[in-house]
Amino acid sequence: MCGIFGYVNCGVGQSRRTILDILLNGLRRLEYRGYDSAGLVCDGAGGAGRPVVIKQSGTVEKLAAAVWEAASDDPRLGPGVVDVPMESHVGIAHTRWATHGAPSSLNSHPHASDPSAQFLVVHNGIVTNFKALKEMLSGKGYTFETETDTEVVARLLKYLYETVREGGEPLSFSRLVMHMMHALDGAYALLVRSTLFPGEVVACKRGSPLVLGLKGDVRELPSDGSVEVLRGSLSGQVAGNGGSGGGGGGGGGGVGGGHALASSPAKRRRLASGEAGSPMAPVSTVVAVAAAGATNGCGGGKARLSPSLSSSGSPAQHCEYFFSSDAAALVEHTDQVVYVEDNDVVHVDSAGGLHLYSFGAAADAVVTNRVIQTLEMELQQIMKGSYDTFMRKEIFEQPESLTQTLRGRLVKKTAGLPTAAGASTGYSSVFPLGDLDVDDSIPLEVQLGGLNERLADIRRSNRVIFVACGTSYNSCLAARQTMEELAELPVSVELASDFLDRRCPIYRSDACVFVSQSGETAETLEALRYARSHHALTVGIVNCVGSSISRLTDCGVHLNAGGEVGVASTKVYTSQIVVLIMIALLLSSDSRGKDARRAEVLRGLAQLPSRVEATLAAVDEMMKATAQQLKDQQSILLFGRGYQYATCLEAALKIKEVSYVHTEGIHAGELKHGPLALVDDKMPVVLFASCDATATKVHNALSQVAARGGLGRMIIVGCVGDAEVMRYKDSATLVLVPQVVDCLQCVLNIVPMQLLSYHLAVARGLNVDQPRNLAKSVTVQ
Ligand code: F6R
Repeated sequence: MCGIFGYVNCGVGQSRRTILDILLNGLRRLEYRGYDSAGLVCDGAGGAGRPVVIKQSGTVEKLAAAVWEAASDDPRLGPGVVDVPMESHVGIAHTRWATHGAPSSLNSHPHASDPSAQFLVVHNGIVTNFKALKEMLSGKGYTFETETDTEVVARLLKYLYETVREGGEPLSFSRLVMHMMHALDGAYALLVRSTLFPGEVVACKRGSPLVLGLKGDVRELPSDGSVEVLRGSLSGQVAGNGGSGGGGGGGGGGVGGGHALASSPAKRRRLASGEAGSPMAPVSTVVAVAAAGATNGCGGGKARLSPSLSSSGSPAQHCEYFFSSDAAALVEHTDQVVYVEDNDVVHVDSAGGLHLYSFGAAADAVVTNRVIQTLEMELQQIMKGSYDTFMRKEIFEQPESLTQTLRGRLVKKTAGLPTAAGASTGYSSVFPLGDLDVDDSIPLEVQLGGLNERLADIRRSNRVIFVACGTSYNSCLAARQTMEELAELPVSVELASDFLDRRCPIYRSDACVFVSQSGETAETLEALRYARSHHALTVGIVNCVGSSISRLTDCGVHLNAGGEVGVASTKVYTSQIVVLIMIALLLSSDSRGKDARRAEVLRGLAQLPSRVEATLAAVDEMMKATAQQLKDQQSILLFGRGYQYATCLEAALKIKEVSYVHTEGIHAGELKHGPLALVDDKMPVVLFASCDATATKVHNALSQVAARGGLGRMIIVGCVGDAEVMRYKDSATLVLVPQVVDCLQCVLNIVPMQLLSYHLAVARGLNVDQPRNLAKSVTVQ
């Protein structure tokens, strides 16, 4: 929901053209967060801090066109200006998913405090008390041009700057932003630049994500301070106890980054010093980080990190900072990042000094550590490569993403087995060998390093509650039965929004599992806070390393599916199911009575990547042809039960969100309780008929649909070699996928449906990666 991006070059002679390129590219990477409108600001001719704001409704490409047009004829930016190097510069930019106010150019960010644009703001989130603030400011004579909450923030900054004094002096830039935060309710990540503070930027965050990128080789200076900065790699593999790259022992990354890192004292180092907060009560502690040779605005001698020291150790002539809603927009610039925490205020001064303050809600809140992390994300992960869309690329990446999810976690138990060097004492990874190399005589096992410390607590829980939204919710439904069966715990699956509406009773004996691709979804995050306030054990299952959910949970597992850019989630869905099933296996690992079942499921996991690959090859063309037949339909019904109930919900969600065809996923057991009335000889019906314990009942449903003339328009998703399904080969469309153990069949069955939704969207001439009205990361409730 909106993406913000900022680029600050201090002492770097970048041309405006380069700066604009960096800002536009940053927005392109963030466009999945909203594509209703976009805007940016850079300095024009005539001195530092003179802003040129360019806004455009529609996509980032439309903004880019407007920017380059301005660069050819706007005297403030045009020929003779755009290529002139600028020693220091602050640029901020925004891509919008409209919440307050229509998706117009007027409502686009940056928003200004006044016609001279003394303060300019870009914002991700919602300021919930903006109406009250607007009323207050209107009473003071302020007028408003837009319906947005962000314009109120910009006007508020001006008002506070003009009216508040500390020690008789006007507020400094960072103190001003702290006063502003004091007045704001709701969720936000904000970047502010000002003509009053040329060459400076202040960022702050509460509830919405914000990552700071530091360019260059960050290295520590001798410390005499009292505030600890935590420094370490937080890749999916490393964060929660290693296990990267196919080695057997690690067990992959654990969520609960703060928790996991805090438990590794060896990684902790004193890197920065603290400064007591200024008189305004809620301000507490400062971590000061400054570029070498820069004036440190936090008082001499506080600087501890230099992002711009050259490898030879001599101060470099420049430093660069990047602010972004998502680390994915930073990878092409730097791998050194700080995940900005809630209530943090980040200030870059005009000399390139970086100051980080924590603005706590309580007077005694104190920051005790800060993390500079090394991103382990490849640029190619977030590029389309040879694919026409991210969605198609991500569908076809599933053999690889599933392998990554399983790598180092699904292991062969080789302890005691003979090797050339004697008896083996450990484990070896199944991957990247693939299922062909899985020898039935060698037992498999699951290792999840991120859960190790809390496994016994989860086992002791009275119940497991899955909480998620959308596709992530569907993945929980898909895994529920296996969790119930293996862990022998009552399992409920909650839509985060409904969970919150009901103020669901939660106890300290509950294990609450929060499942999210982004790790930032507003309702899921709020539900996590709610569960924490009731002292439940919290487990995070997320894809985005460093996300809020990963940091707030007690323990967890990263999906390691790789960056997912397409708004419609595909590869993450299948990885979510796999991780949840692995957790179920782990929870039952002390139950000998379940050994046989566990072995069957473990074997199924090892087979998944190659089975998905075979499915992709077998059904792509067929789904393209089917999409041609269905492209003018108004409605499609999807039926399934047991493990396939989740599949029909997820397939319905996928089709409706990218092709805008109305779809309904219906439990096949409910057919005769109402939905059968919709079935006639024209209504397309998809039925999931797998070889599992519900097969007889599913075939009953099939007969009921057939009896209403529905067979001619029916698509049956079944398993290769299933004689029952083959009976319909002449009367219905059969989509046959390889068979795998019953509880994992849903991973294969969803693949043709993902392809069908993709091909339907293409056939209907729609933008597959940017479905209307949607955004990928839903950070507002
Ligand atoms: C649909 C889709 C959404 C998300 C939902 C939750 O394709 O992607 O339904 O699953 O918005 O998002 P996360 O998983 O980031 O919490």
